[in-house]
Amino acid sequence: MKADVLLGLQWGDEGKGKVVDYLAPDYDIIARFQGGPNAGHTLEFGDVKHVLHQIPSGIFREGVLNVIGNGVVLDPVVFRKEIEDLEKYGIEFKNRLYISLKAQLILPTHKYLDAAIEKYKGDQKIGSTLRGIGPAYQDKVGRFGIKVGDVLEEDFKKKVNEIMEQHKKLVSFYGGDFEGFEEKLKVFFDCIEYLKTFNLTETAIFLNREMDNGKSVLAEGAQGSLLDVDFGSYPYVTSSNTITPGACIGLGIAPGRIGKVFGVFKAYCTRVGEGPFPTELFDDVGKDIAKIGHEFGATTGRPRRVGWLDLPALRYAVMLNGVTDLYMMKADVLDSFEEIRVCNEYNLKSGGKTADFPNNLSVIDSAQYHLIKGWNSTLDEKCFDNGLPQSLEDYISYIEEQTGIAIKMVSFGPKRKQTILR
Ligand code: GDP
Ligand code: IMO
Ligand code: MG
Repeated sequence: MKADVLLGLQWGDEGKGKVVDYLAPDYDIIARFQGGPNAGHTLEFGDVKHVLHQIPSGIFREGVLNVIGNGVVLDPVVFRKEIEDLEKYGIEFKNRLYISLKAQLILPTHKYLDAAIEKYKGDQKIGSTLRGIGPAYQDKVGRFGIKVGDVLEEDFKKKVNEIMEQHKKLVSFYGGDFEGFEEKLKVFFDCIEYLKTFNLTETAIFLNREMDNGKSVLAEGAQGSLLDVDFGSYPYVTSSNTITPGACIGLGIAPGRIGKVFGVFKAYCTRVGEGPFPTELFDDVGKDIAKIGHEFGATTGRPRRVGWLDLPALRYAVMLNGVTDLYMMKADVLDSFEEIRVCNEYNLKSGGKTADFPNNLSVIDSAQYHLIKGWNSTLDEKCFDNGLPQSLEDYISYIEEQTGIAIKMVSFGPKRKQTILR
């Protein structure tokens, strides 16, 4: 069997969690391949809303196995909290969760460093989630990192303390503080003991063997393509490869074993944190979209910036990822708008135009828009019988034509049932 990949095509928060949970019954294994607790994937069913940060979004589907791959940076403190929250719902997960021995650990000092570096950068700050992601990946690439597998070694504490001494010097250099450090350190080591009680294993071997035996895998991306460390709006990006090849690296699955690539995008755009955003809205329309869409970060609670759908950016993401199927989320949020705009080109400061996503977004003067009449009706269960409103079909056709990829799913609410397959 091949592994399918599901990932975000914008700046994160596209609705990946909802879709993974929706699709999970069709798969044997759901695997996270990059990122860490900077992610916030929301799942809503029954009367409850769950936000997952590190646990794959297949955890609520009975019998589905879940893998935290080698490409992930794992915070054992956030991990224990997430597991304890899941326990409240009586979910059996311990035998269904596998964690890579090669995943990197986020240490308490990584979070202090994240905060100190952001402070040091001043108005150049990234708007990081302050979860220690950047410093943890920096240590991985710098070959200082501590892996999950190291927790089983005798010299684990010694190694952690050594690297933390280095971090402390760096935090001081960047002018940061250590408020509450001793307590956090104690909790960290407690959480490491807890982590040791889980299935810590060679997930690459496990996944490939399961696939050899006919088991199906869905790789769950975190963040979005425009936050990719190589291809995103650098330096305003996260520190991992969020695109399809990231799933190969972050799980140990060879490129030839990748099957379908499901690209998830909102019917409009959002971004949380700093960085360029060509279609950003600063007017009442933007405020209305943010309000109707409840656009607040699932991890930090920060308000998300809002704008119209950006096709040059979407085409770029489709290209980088090799998207086979597009999934449009939050179409319902646009129900009440008279007119919907979609950017098809950028006007450049130099006078010309481009339909490509530029290397440096500061060359863009403004976005040029194609207008679509709003559907002015409520998307609900009636659409299962009556079909989608014509204006929404027009919007979908325009996006399909512009990207060359079919939109196979339209989501009109956060719940599992609020999903139309096309
Ligand atoms: P993720 O990080 O990609 O998993 O997305 P988030 O969970 O951060 O943000 C998506 C938000 O939109 C969550 O609050 C979801 O419950 C919600 N959501 C998902 N799909 C839909 C939809 O089709 N319509 C509406 N109104 N909300 C949705
Ligand atoms: P999910 O998986 C939206 C953003 C941060 C910041 C930048 C770098 O829920 O879609 P980091 O903490 O990674 O160093 O922050 O990336 N960011 C996200 N934005 N959704 C996410 O994850 C994000 N994870 C990081 O706001 O701008
Ligand atoms: Mg999110």
